Amino acid sequence: MKRAGKNTSKRKSNDYFRFGKWGETSLDFIFCSDAWINVAEGSVRSGKTIACNQRFVEFVQKSDSDEFLISGKTSQSLRRNVIKPLMKMMNTDDVSYDYRKHDGELEIEGKICYTMGFNDEKAVDVIAGMTVGGWLADEIARCPRSAVEMAISRCSDIGAKMFWNTNPDSPYHYLYENYINNHDLLKSGTLKRWKFLLDDNPNLDPQYVIELKRVNQKSEVFYKRNILGEWVIAEGAIYDKFIESENTFNLHPHLHDINICCDYGVSTVTTFGVMGIHKDPLEGNSYYLLTETYYDAEETGVTQSDSERVDTIVTLQDDYKLTNKNTLYLPHDAASLKSACEKDKRIKMRIETYTPNTYEDINTIQDLIANRKFKIHNSCTHSITQAQTYCWDKKSQQRGEDKPLKINDHCPDMWRGGICGPMKTSKKSIYHAPRRIQL
Ligand SMILES: Nc1ncnc2c1ncn2[C@@H]1O[C@H](COP(=O)(O)OP(=O)(O)OP(=O)(O)O)[C@@H](O)[C@H]1O
Ligand SMILES: [Mg+2]
Repeated sequence: MKRAGKNTSKRKSNDYFRFGKWGETSLDFIFCSDAWINVAEGSVRSGKTIACNQRFVEFVQKSDSDEFLISGKTSQSLRRNVIKPLMKMMNTDDVSYDYRKHDGELEIEGKICYTMGFNDEKAVDVIAGMTVGGWLADEIARCPRSAVEMAISRCSDIGAKMFWNTNPDSPYHYLYENYINNHDLLKSGTLKRWKFLLDDNPNLDPQYVIELKRVNQKSEVFYKRNILGEWVIAEGAIYDKFIESENTFNLHPHLHDINICCDYGVSTVTTFGVMGIHKDPLEGNSYYLLTETYYDAEETGVTQSDSERVDTIVTLQDDYKLTNKNTLYLPHDAASLKSACEKDKRIKMRIETYTPNTYEDINTIQDLIANRKFKIHNSCTHSITQAQTYCWDKKSQQRGEDKPLKINDHCPDMWRGGICGPMKTSKKSIYHAPRRIQL
């Protein structure tokens, strides 16, 4: 599979992929993935992405089609996890390629591969107009269903094939139920799946494998999904990677942006947060909850008015010297609070409405917490408690939905606005899906 040769991009000596040994599962995937949908699923670091990359390049070269699709969770994670290694791999091979980062187009042997992050807002609209001869999908379980379903329908060229890779998730995840574990698709050969395990990747340092297994034994669901490659439900705490000593802070870090976020309940809890963002184009953003306010109407027996809530916002805004360069993220269902804010001349901040996507937002925050890229100030006691008590609802899981229990959810809902709001509303916001859990 290794060749030497030409390409149209500038080469650097360290841009070559250092091919090691192929594991047995990788080889089987590369040589036998001839179904319409081919899925590499299983443990972290087990070689899924590299096997898919290798197979995809060979497929594109032989295909009669001219246009292809390459997708990832976000454009940043796609560039880092897929495009970069893919280009290094093609450097070693005799494949000509050109990557036009601005257009998101990767040309392989004169054929165009459109590359995109499926969590980017316009992904579905862009895919809707395409007809492609193949699709390489990285981290597909982390992508919105609408984009995945649209992309499947686009693979209509004769001989088109899909190459997906994913870590396991809930057995009730639509991707597992409708595709990966769909017995009709498996029986008819429309879909083939390969389970990759850590021990199948001979390129990992054996000591790293031992340590990764050892440190992840504490979180049962993480161990079963990411080490054993099993599709199991997430029982118990949603943010089970939250460690108080590592996910809290005292001294304010250097910040590039601050916003105010909120969870709003007329007769229950209204909580506001001041969220600081440290931006790092290489490592991805880190988020710091600097302050929280927490008003529990049930506990006090008195409902807050919108004008009282606006007063709280103004106090936070002035305490942190926030201006029209900063944003106030209000939940989509806070219509009356939004109009009260718009009418109040004291509010200088931009006001944005944030529409949550529970499952994706939880995934994003889980990654940030696990990588210590979301930290809570020690004074924010409600947030610290709720980070450790926010739980999955077992009854809805039995009905096939991963839903959080509506208890201890006010602070986690509030953070979502401050973390996921900027990701959804600003192109400048940088989020890199963390590649490897920092231990
Ligand atoms: N044939 C190979 N030669 C050299 N290195 C390899 C080979 N296959 C995999 N690797 C290396 O093993 C590591 C894990 O591979 P890869 O990224 O494909 O795993 P993955 O299953 O996609 O992991 P994750 O679930 O974390 O995304 C990477 O550092 C990769 O470069
Ligand atoms: Mg991968």
